[in-house]
Amino acid sequence: MEYRNLGRTGLKVSAIGLGTMVHAGHFGPMKDEESLSAIEAALDVGVNFIDTSDAYGAGYAESLLAKALKGRRDKVILATKGGNIMVGPNRGKTDFSAAYIHRVMDESLRRLETDYVDLYQLHNPTVDVIKRGEVWELLEQRKKEGKIRFYGVSINKMEEGVAAVEDGRSDTVQLEYNLLMQAPAEEVLPLAQKANVGVIARAPLRRGLLTGKFTPQDQQRLQADDVRARGFAGDLFKTELEKVERMRFLVKGSVQSLAQAAIAFCLAHPAVSVVIAGARDARQMRENAAASDLRLSSEDLQKAAEIWRSGFQA
Ligand SMILES: NC(=O)c1ccc[n+]([C@@H]2O[C@H](COP(=O)([O-])OP(=O)(O)OC[C@H]3O[C@@H](n4cnc5c(N)ncnc54)[C@H](OP(=O)(O)O)[C@@H]3O)[C@@H](O)[C@H]2O)c1
Repeated sequence: MEYRNLGRTGLKVSAIGLGTMVHAGHFGPMKDEESLSAIEAALDVGVNFIDTSDAYGAGYAESLLAKALKGRRDKVILATKGGNIMVGPNRGKTDFSAAYIHRVMDESLRRLETDYVDLYQLHNPTVDVIKRGEVWELLEQRKKEGKIRFYGVSINKMEEGVAAVEDGRSDTVQLEYNLLMQAPAEEVLPLAQKANVGVIARAPLRRGLLTGKFTPQDQQRLQADDVRARGFAGDLFKTELEKVERMRFLVKGSVQSLAQAAIAFCLAHPAVSVVIAGARDARQMRENAAASDLRLSSEDLQKAAEIWRSGFQA
């Protein structure tokens, strides 16, 4: 396993991390034993960065992690998030007020059964929150109290990433970056690299589509609670899969699968500190972790970028 600097934090993170959204059932039903075996495999292959959120299963993923990490909390760099309301009448909305984040951060610490998290991320804040939110003072205060070691943002839109880097208070930016979603490489990653802001590349497999295991017919089998049913509704599933096929040329030589090629693509960008793929079980975790040792050629990286830039026409 390769280890990289998480921006200016001084933390050394494994190039491959583990995302735990799948373990809360957001990709269809999950069994705890499978989740625990995925986490076990992660630690076994040298993964030391685990990403979660109070939003995953409304705290379920955090509680599961506490169980998995009992007695070895110090072996991992633990990152969680807050700001999405998951229960009650405001479910589905966000709240980045200092009072709300203070409360939900304490709840995360309780569920994770830890005195501190290494990284606390605002979960999908707007540009306005990033520039003017009252939450930043709270984060600084909680850092001084030792409840969090560092803080950053997880964002959806490129302008939010740019705002976070320019604002300067975030130690890290988490964003979706993959072969089908290369905009970060043009709009955010160079800025982050210059400012030494750690980049956490999420959904490197485009939620599993970039493993090449799906056919258009599989869309009907996705269950309603699978994020892919909503996220790739209508024709989008099929058109995304057509794009996936354009990237199959990357599977050759030591690159044994499209999943590995997709992860190696993310790792090839020097701004990226850690690539967090979700892994349902130990097999997926081991396959993804093995991508840490792979290097795509500059010609192939260039070709992948050209295909994306042409809107998959080239
Ligand atoms: N706004 C945010 O902050 C935000 C949003 C999204 C994600 N995230 C974070 O980023 C992490 C990663 O993103 P993600 O989980 O959404 O997407 P992803 O990593 O692109 O895809 C993960 C899914 O792909 C499938 N998969 C993984 N490895 C595989 C392999 N080797 N072979 C075959 N299938 C494989 C698994 O689902 P199946 O087995 O069901 O196909 C797995 O759940 C999340 O867990 C979460 O921590 C954050």
